[in-house]
Amino acid sequence: MNIRLFKPSLGSEELSAVKDAFDRSWVGLGPRVNEFEEKWAEFVGAKLAIGVNSATAALHLALATFRFPEGKKVLVPSLTFSATASAVLYNRLIPVFVDSDPITLGMDLEDMKRKFNKDVVAVMPVHYAGHPVPMELLMPWAREYGLKVVEDCAHTSGAIYKGKALGTWGDIGCYSFEEKKLMTTGDGGMMVTNEPELFKDVKAMRWVGIDKDNWKTAQTYTHKNHNALHWFYELNVLGYKYNMNDLAASIGLQQLQKLPTMNTRRSEIIHQYVDGLKDVEGVKPLLPYEPYNYVYQMFGIRAQKRDELMIHLKSHGIATGCHYTPLSLQPLFKEWGGNCPYIEQEANRFITLPLHADLTDEEVNYIIEKIVQFKS
Ligand SMILES: Cc1ncc(COP(=O)(O)O)c(C=O)c1O
Repeated sequence: MNIRLFKPSLGSEELSAVKDAFDRSWVGLGPRVNEFEEKWAEFVGAKLAIGVNSATAALHLALATFRFPEGKKVLVPSLTFSATASAVLYNRLIPVFVDSDPITLGMDLEDMKRKFNKDVVAVMPVHYAGHPVPMELLMPWAREYGLKVVEDCAHTSGAIYKGKALGTWGDIGCYSFEEKKLMTTGDGGMMVTNEPELFKDVKAMRWVGIDKDNWKTAQTYTHKNHNALHWFYELNVLGYKYNMNDLAASIGLQQLQKLPTMNTRRSEIIHQYVDGLKDVEGVKPLLPYEPYNYVYQMFGIRAQKRDELMIHLKSHGIATGCHYTPLSLQPLFKEWGGNCPYIEQEANRFITLPLHADLTDEEVNYIIEKIVQFKS
């Protein structure tokens, strides 16, 4: 057995969509990106979506749209990937790390409120593993203090929470299509909002400062449009080379069609894990998974003998991981860290188990069997 922790689920549909892009000889920012943006906006029920080359870029630009004064503070969970807090530093802002709720592992809203002060301008809830942060409680509080809300949805795509898609509760939602995520474009990301005015500069910011569309510009290279000034553009904002390209978008359009099926398969696997591990001593699921209500990118357990169990699983060809070492313990972030006692201790027990849409029932049973074996 050699079971991967994560694995993209790609097929001939993606390959032929990429071939179409080759045949058109248009592989940069182009019509497929526009199409994917429209489909994504429709999928999550947002007014506007903008495609970028990663969720890291999306998070950077999301905070940048607000033009916060340098040195202001942003509340971020300690239990997240580096990108959430790096986006804060990219914008010359200061991360304020928030501890985790012991049950759900999402941001502890009480700790978040305790850490608020007059310099805080935004909050970045992360739906950790895919489990929703209670947005119905977070949003009224954030609004009361005039805070902007950027949802990091790297671990969830397509989940509806209390009637509204995750990613559309806050001001801006950011999704990831990196290869380990719920669906992939190789690398890629999407930003969404229901306030289109917020994104008025984002197209330029993701495309080196140019707010003209290259594809549309190319279509004006014709004698019929000799007044179109196709060579002209103005730089009004500082832009980055963060655009999504047509190759990625071609894959994304196919993956989006498969996403509901892939999400259902992940739910079945989580159900199988939870059921198979329920009586195993010394092991329990990371959080109260609700696989048929939400969409989870990761499945994990809390284990008493974490390191020994990981080595045992490795010796049986089962890949595992730990998501994450809390950021407040990382050397890069240490100067703002050391203040999330629960998660800084508890994360030492976390093991992420394999989860991807191509995992078979036999493989999941094998993993459960090896965990049970370790205990007995
Ligand atoms: C919570 C979280 N935010 C952001 C990112 C960044 O995503 P990307 O790799 O698309 O930049 C990740 C990636 O793993 C993540 O897990």
